[in-house]
Amino acid sequence: MTSDRNDARRDLPRFPNVLIPPSSGLIIPSSPHHPVSLLSTADVDRTQVQRILDVAADFGRNVRGRRDLLGDHVVATLFFEPSTRTRLSFEAAANRLGARVITMSDPAASSTSKGETLDDTARIVEGYADLIVLRHPQDGAAREVAALVSVPVINAGDGTGEHPTQALLDLFTIRQERGRLEGQRVALIGDLRNGRTVHSLSRLLARFGCPMLLVSPPGLALPAPLLAELGELGANVAVATFEEALSNADVIYVTRIQKERFVDLAEYEAVRGSYRLTADAVRRLAPAATIMHPLPRVDEVALDVDTLPNAAYFRQAGNGVPVRMALLALLLRALPW
Ligand code: NCD
Repeated sequence: MTSDRNDARRDLPRFPNVLIPPSSGLIIPSSPHHPVSLLSTADVDRTQVQRILDVAADFGRNVRGRRDLLGDHVVATLFFEPSTRTRLSFEAAANRLGARVITMSDPAASSTSKGETLDDTARIVEGYADLIVLRHPQDGAAREVAALVSVPVINAGDGTGEHPTQALLDLFTIRQERGRLEGQRVALIGDLRNGRTVHSLSRLLARFGCPMLLVSPPGLALPAPLLAELGELGANVAVATFEEALSNADVIYVTRIQKERFVDLAEYEAVRGSYRLTADAVRRLAPAATIMHPLPRVDEVALDVDTLPNAAYFRQAGNGVPVRMALLALLLRALPW
C-alpha cells in the first residue's frame, strides 16, 4: 500500500458530498427474541449476526460432519425468479445437514401457471415442509407468506426489496478476507436502486460501523428512504466517483445493472456498460482491496480480474453454503442462538 493511498484514506471524511455525517458510535439494536423467520436484515440484531457468522465459520471448517443435525427435517425451496447460487447453495446446505429438500424452481411447471396465488401455494407447502425458502419478484412477498404460515420463512430475494442471506454471506466473506469487519470501508458500486443485495448489505454494514462509498450511474442511486434509514443507524455514507471509490475502499462490492427491473429498456440501454472494473484499474487504484460481487456478472467485472489474489467473488459464492447451513440450523433450532 502506498503512502498516497493512505493519505487518500485520511481525506475521506472531508468528501464534500457526504450525505450522512460520521457517527460517534454504533447503534446496537437489542432484541431479546430469537427470530422465527429471516425476512429482512432487521430481523437479526448484531449479536445474532455474529452468532450466525460464528456458526458458519464452524461449518466452513467441517461441512461434511453434521448430517445428524437436521436428519428429520424437510426444507422447501420455492423460486419464482431465476437463481443459481442461492437455490443450489440452500439445497447443498440442507443436504449437508441431513435434511431432505423439496423444490419448485420453475413456476411455469407448477400450479402458478394455472392461476394459483402465492398465498395458496405457501399454505400448501407449509403442510409439506418444516421451513420455506422463498424467492419472488414482488417486494414484501416473503413477509406476506411468513404472516400466513406456521413454519419459518427465509427471504431468498423479494423483487427489489431485500436479500438478507446474501448480505450475511457478504459479511462473512468480508470478515474472512479482511480478518475483521468493523470499520472496513466498503465501496458499493452499480445499480443501487434496484439491487436488493446492496439494500440488505448496507443495513448490515451500518450496524458494524463500516463507512460506505456509493457509486451508481445516473438514476440508479440508493433509494432515499433507505438512505434515511442508514442515517438513523448512524452510518457514514458518501457518494463517490468510481476512481475515488477504488482508491479509498478496503472492499469493492460491484453489482450488475438489474436489467429485468427496468420497465423501459431504453433506460437500461442508456446506462449499460457505464462502469467496468479491470485488472489494470485494480492494480493501479486498489491493489490491496478485496473485490466482491454477488454474481451473476455481465460485463462490470472484466475476466482478467479473476486471477488477481484479491478477487474474492468465487470464494464469496462458496461461502453461501456454510452461511446458509448456519441459518437453517439456527432457525430450525437444531443449534442454540
Ligand atoms: C443476486 C440477486 O438475485 O439479487 N444474485 C444472487 O443471489 N447472488 C444479484 C443479482 O441478481 O444481480
